[in-house]
Amino acid sequence: MAGLTHSAFRRLVSDFGGHGALFTEMLCGRWLRAENLRTSAATRRRAQEGPVIYQLMIAEPTEVPAIMACLAQLEPAGVDLNCACPTPNVRHAGAGSALFEDRERLAAILTAMRRELAGPLTVKIRLGLPREGWRAQLADRLRLFADCGVDAVILHPRFADEKLRRRARHELLPELASATRLPIIASGDLHGPELLRRNPEHFAGVSGLMIGRMAVVQPWLFRAWRSEPVAPDYLDVWQRFVRYVREDFPERKVFHRIKAFTAYYARNFHFGHTLLAATQSATDLAPLTEKATRFLSSAPQPALHPDVAGLA
Ligand SMILES: Cc1cc2nc3c(=O)[nH]c(=O)nc-3n(C[C@H](O)[C@H](O)[C@H](O)COP(=O)(O)O)c2cc1C
Repeated sequence: MAGLTHSAFRRLVSDFGGHGALFTEMLCGRWLRAENLRTSAATRRRAQEGPVIYQLMIAEPTEVPAIMACLAQLEPAGVDLNCACPTPNVRHAGAGSALFEDRERLAAILTAMRRELAGPLTVKIRLGLPREGWRAQLADRLRLFADCGVDAVILHPRFADEKLRRRARHELLPELASATRLPIIASGDLHGPELLRRNPEHFAGVSGLMIGRMAVVQPWLFRAWRSEPVAPDYLDVWQRFVRYVREDFPERKVFHRIKAFTAYYARNFHFGHTLLAATQSATDLAPLTEKATRFLSSAPQPALHPDVAGLA
């Protein structure tokens, strides 16, 4: 997740454990070619994170060999092509959910990626645009992915133009998973095991789950999901995150990374809006730290059901 799932955050998640693979933020392929990958905070990875899949934004097939050669230096556990992002500037560049629409370019990019990559290759998609024939288009893309040697598909069952406040259409997962022999990893609104217990039929054909926003709210979620209750020391977790970010990022970027995380973290508390307001009004790190520390050391009452509504 852009601005959120950098190595400092993944390090925090891996302090708790319980996860399978972790994903980077979407990294622009062109940017990778210009960056010093040995020192960049965006591409950094630590052994304790376990397998890390690097997610790429690519729009131009001819650029694939050079991008993959750069990425090879990092020895990724796998590479994911973003064909899901609905953000206007990403679509405008012909990447993300716009690439999903362009069959020829999509095939050329995936074929070139497969040629360059021996390890796992995945794609992240939405349902496409909500128009007549979306099902046929999606079935066609799933066939294309299999033909191009993709290993798994991460499916976020919202249409390409839908905001996150609309619920993910989990009920479509069985039908879509049965349309392909590729493993389907479901993404979207998977905030805890209760949902799977409530509607097991939606997830029966699914091979894996990808958790986004709720894992930022609760970096211990993966461990808790694997049936080990976690009683986090909220202040310690926040302070650890701050320390990790400061280790990785230049000073000018630290504040925004911490502010972004804290807006999510505030969802853990009954009066989390107090922490959120303090975060939003802070203009630099010192007041933010002071206010967050005061809130988190006051034994804040945990929210009964933390949620991600409105977080984007
Ligand atoms: C702030 C933010 C940044 C995101 N960045 C990415 C990204 O870089 N790559 C990606 O595939 N999805 C990205 N997403 C989408 C999530 O991966 C996920 O599909 C979506 O949030 C729904 O899942 P969730 O309910 O588990 O959060 C982002 C979402 C948010 C809110």
